[in-house]
Amino acid sequence: MDGQTITAAPVLILLGPPGAGKGTQARMLEEKFGLVQLSTGDLLRAAVAQGTEAGKQAKAVMDAGGLVSDDIVIAILRDRLAEPDCAQGVILDGFPRTTVQAEALDTLLAENGQRIDAAISLEVDDAAMVTRISGRYTCAACGEGYHDVFKQPSQPETCDKCGGTQMKRRADDKAETVASRLEAYHAQTAPLIGYYDDKGALTRIDAMGDIGDIAADMGAIVKTATAR
Ligand code: AP5
Repeated sequence: MDGQTITAAPVLILLGPPGAGKGTQARMLEEKFGLVQLSTGDLLRAAVAQGTEAGKQAKAVMDAGGLVSDDIVIAILRDRLAEPDCAQGVILDGFPRTTVQAEALDTLLAENGQRIDAAISLEVDDAAMVTRISGRYTCAACGEGYHDVFKQPSQPETCDKCGGTQMKRRADDKAETVASRLEAYHAQTAPLIGYYDDKGALTRIDAMGDIGDIAADMGAIVKTATAR
């Protein structure tokens, strides 16, 4: 872990359209800095798999590429943030996605005496996102992410991280659903770039390059932001 300069409980936000690399980068930052990745997409998929009431309501919306209602997502995030491991600091991956969620997060953090250390906007070309998403797959055991072209495991069908041999693809990664997800991003989430810019918390990053180079840039931003 390379996190000596980090103060208590940093809070980082990753913004970016589907396929921008939020999950990929969050997992790398998690390992490097000992932070906890909180992906509302992952939390919602777990709720769907468990068949909870929230999961039942979320499923159809997710399959269509829309945004799940603020009430459901805020409740899920609030519960997860209250778990003890989050005391070491969190990387929010895919939350907030609307202004209502951003304001709810501000309130939640203020109640805990916390603040946002950095909101990082991963800037990409939409056209490349369909290729990224349609080639994506993950390890069923540990969730490590791979890509048919851009990030292959060293041994075919074997996870570099945990050795798992079951890989899976997401139901909403079809090209037509990706178009709806991109639309939802630009209509409802992109305005948050201005929201965090106005607070002086925003850093934009070119996320079209090599995964390792982007990770190095992100690491530098996180170090600076959390050392303040
Ligand atoms: P979620 O799971 O959050 O999906 P998303 O935002 O659409 O983002 P993705 O996971 O598709 O992309 P990513 O940016 O993480 O990219 P990744 O690193 O995997 O949400 C799913 C659904 O849940 C939403 O549509 C919505 O319905 C619901 N939801 C979730 N949160 C919500 C909220 N707050 N409010 C309401 N609804 C919510 O990378 C993609 C691929 O590209 C990978 O294969 C990777 O290996 C590769 N790759 C990554 N970086 C690079 C690079 N630099 N070069 C080449 N390849 C790369």
